[in-house]
Amino acid sequence: MFQPGKGRVQISEAQIAERIRALGAAIRQDYAGQEPHLVCVLNGAFIFMADLVRAIDLPLTLDFLAVSSYGNAEKSSGEVELIKDLRLPIAGRQVIIVEDIVDTGITLNYLLRLLEARQPASLRVAALLSKPSRRQVEVPIHYLGFEIEDAFVYGYGLDRAQRDRNLPFITSQ
Ligand code: IMP
Ligand code: MG
Repeated sequence: MFQPGKGRVQISEAQIAERIRALGAAIRQDYAGQEPHLVCVLNGAFIFMADLVRAIDLPLTLDFLAVSSYGNAEKSSGEVELIKDLRLPIAGRQVIIVEDIVDTGITLNYLLRLLEARQPASLRVAALLSKPSRRQVEVPIHYLGFEIEDAFVYGYGLDRAQRDRNLPFITSQ
């Protein structure tokens, strides 16, 4: 069965669910009367996205893109590659980028520039996790799940060499 690791970071299923309810409520309030467009950053954010959209009681649309910044390594190469682009245009839309984790900030910085150039009406970020001590580029996070210390975490969509995305909690080694 699913066992949490022995690492320093442990975020349970219940803690994740409670936090996502709060994020969904905040987004609902901020976008009342509008129709936000949520952009999921594959692969890591797929479970967070699935839970977050169900916590937002508003009409919304969504789309997916994929980037690669790590390969199978645990350290960022500093290079971001767009592997899969969006299907839908975002010009004039209220866009929210949905990311799993902001580490150095390099990936999110790249995505903000990429999407800003397509002239959305607004562009915000929802991130499940942030490691502020690792930041190399300052990036805005409007909706944050949890701030964590500098440890490599996995589970709940985040991988450890492509495995463990299916763990229902977040843990570190
Ligand atoms: P950044 O560009 O350094 O901010 O890294 C962003 C991406 O690296 C995230 O979207 C994750 O896919 C991956 N990443 C960073 N830290 C971790 C971690 O602790 N566990 C799993 N993936 C991570
Ligand atoms: Mg990611």
